[in-house]
Amino acid sequence: MALILGIESSCDETAAAVVRDGRHVISNVVATQHELHERYSGVVPEIASRAHLERILPVIQESLRTASLDLSDIDGIAVGHEPGLIGSLLVGLGAAKALAWSISRPLVGVNHVHAHLWSPCLDGEPITFPALGLVASGGHTALYLMRDPVDMSMIGSTIDDAVGEAFDKAATILEAGYPGGPAIESLASGGHEKALKLPVARLGDNLNFSYSGLKTALLYAVRGRPEGRGKAVTYPRAVSELSSQERSDAAASFQAAAIAALIRNINRALDQHEVTCLLAGGGVTANSSLRRELAKICQSHDRPLRLAEPAYCVDNAAMIAGLGGALLETGMQHDMDLAAAARVAR
Ligand code: KG4
Ligand code: ZN
Repeated sequence: MALILGIESSCDETAAAVVRDGRHVISNVVATQHELHERYSGVVPEIASRAHLERILPVIQESLRTASLDLSDIDGIAVGHEPGLIGSLLVGLGAAKALAWSISRPLVGVNHVHAHLWSPCLDGEPITFPALGLVASGGHTALYLMRDPVDMSMIGSTIDDAVGEAFDKAATILEAGYPGGPAIESLASGGHEKALKLPVARLGDNLNFSYSGLKTALLYAVRGRPEGRGKAVTYPRAVSELSSQERSDAAASFQAAAIAALIRNINRALDQHEVTCLLAGGGVTANSSLRRELAKICQSHDRPLRLAEPAYCVDNAAMIAGLGGALLETGMQHDMDLAAAARVAR
């Protein structure tokens, strides 16, 4: 029975969790920083790392307290060490190394994106490999072929914006609120998705995605074609000139186009690869329209869909502890010179 303490600080959530045997979540504590970044309509890296520093130890203590455990009960420490904001990653990594050293337990570094793919098996059944994996989040949009916990190959990814980033930008364009994904989802609920004709990027015969054109198409559809350049750019219309139905229609049309691009490539990947199931994780997979569309595409391919519980879709440390436990089980572990990495091409 392995009890793993997971630590996550790659972006704007400070999180710690205790997970048993890679799947059973004993505690899961997440301190969001949304209130600190809201006025900037996006995450400010410097503010994020300072906030992690203040919160990391209380969050770890809370995860142990709610699990009714002492640090000495923990069998290993897992930490998200790549990819992410470098200053933020360093806070979690420093804490993880210090704790692992202080209790003489193994340390394992976990890839944050791979951990999103692990999240569907938290509080659920084990994964049967090989599986197809979708990560749809604020920083990543990618498809993976997962042969086992240590062997995951990226088979398609975004060439520009991530889908969650596009939701966040759409929310800024439509003045819908922050964080953008849930705000667009609720604005879209009363809208007609065919009201605006927005493009679903076609990148040829591969599994890549592109979201920057969709965001620009939404901007022009809502505010008209711009005049001038740079800071002098002006638009014929303000968002305030739209009726509330028109704003909802724009949100629904954007959401449908963003989801259609994901579904098209999943369809293609399920045709190309012999897999047991589709695993889906990352903040955008909390979106109920996407969850419905994923269920439909899996049904049409006769493959089970393994969706993360909504609490495990967004950034959390349970997914880090879960995958970390599976990696430790294979014999993997890291030394104290484990480095943080802002980017990884895997
Ligand atoms: O996985 P996550 O918490 O962080 C990253 O690793 O990026 O994902 C955050 C992203 C944000 O872009 C947020 O707007 C989006 O997930 N998101 C959603 C929803 N909930 C969160 N997008 C669409 N619909 C939602 N309900
Ligand atoms: Zn994430």
